[in-house]
Amino acid sequence: MQQKILISRAIFPEVIAKLAQHFDVTSNQDDVLWTPSQLIEQLACKQGIFTTGGERIDAALLAACPDLRICANMAVGYNNFDLDAMTAAGVLGTNAPDVLTETTADLGFSLLMATARRLAESEHYLRAGLWTRWRYDMFIGADIHGATLGILGMGRIGQGIARRGAHGFGMKVIYHNRTRLDAATEADCKACYVSKEELLRTADHLVLVLPYSASSHHAIGAAELARMKPSATLVNIARGGIVDDAALALALRNRTIAAAGLDVFEGEPKVHPDLLTVPNIVLTPHIGSASLPTRLAMAHLAADNLIGYLVNKKALTPLNPAPAALA
Ligand code: GLV
Repeated sequence: MQQKILISRAIFPEVIAKLAQHFDVTSNQDDVLWTPSQLIEQLACKQGIFTTGGERIDAALLAACPDLRICANMAVGYNNFDLDAMTAAGVLGTNAPDVLTETTADLGFSLLMATARRLAESEHYLRAGLWTRWRYDMFIGADIHGATLGILGMGRIGQGIARRGAHGFGMKVIYHNRTRLDAATEADCKACYVSKEELLRTADHLVLVLPYSASSHHAIGAAELARMKPSATLVNIARGGIVDDAALALALRNRTIAAAGLDVFEGEPKVHPDLLTVPNIVLTPHIGSASLPTRLAMAHLAADNLIGYLVNKKALTPLNPAPAALA
């Protein structure tokens, strides 16, 4: 009998067509945002699910869906997966690394530039018809070239941002990470390893690129913001919850730091109301990987993981040990 899979959100038709060559596919092309119990209902008797990063796969869902064998995330981050519960239930998780690295680094650097040079604020000013004359001190921002770029979380995307800063803009790059990079990678990124304390204290522009977990929750809160330079900018392209958004809004209002650029938010797509009223911020709706070739590559990788595992018993980018029966 043909195996069944669920595609939980709207996705490229060609990716659905590819999956339909191998599986009995149910897809949510109407892009309905299912509640957890609706998701469980849709997933009944299916062996695989294509997720897009927002669907929570936890012990309750796994207990209710005993036929499930694989969850393939079309995202590099996988904090929507309870991997321990999945391993215990014999369910494989996969993510979509590498294919989005450069596109997401591009967005990180775009946000850094827009934030430092106050692009959103100045555009709103112009659109509001307030621009009537030149002034020497109008929208004075911070330089990017030659400044100190701090990166918290130095995985593939962090390294991409470091290379852009060091090689493209002559920035001095410092980073902090759980583990220090090897010497060759540090040299390639022209990056120096420092403590988190030094990173906060000395970065002119701080970019967050670390994964979200219980240990990175509110890694940047009021205390950390208070250690940054008043002229510093902060960019978060990692995950909501790494920054305490309420504390950030207050720090921006009080000019504890100069400006922030956020692509991710605590509880997104809701945005903390105070962030919407501070002027010194650039806000984008989680578009880090949003270029057509990259989103297509991510979707194909998630599809190839489903096909690889359910048809050929080998996933391309597994996150947890494959259950023994299939290994
Ligand atoms: C996007 O946020 C991703 O994790 O791919």
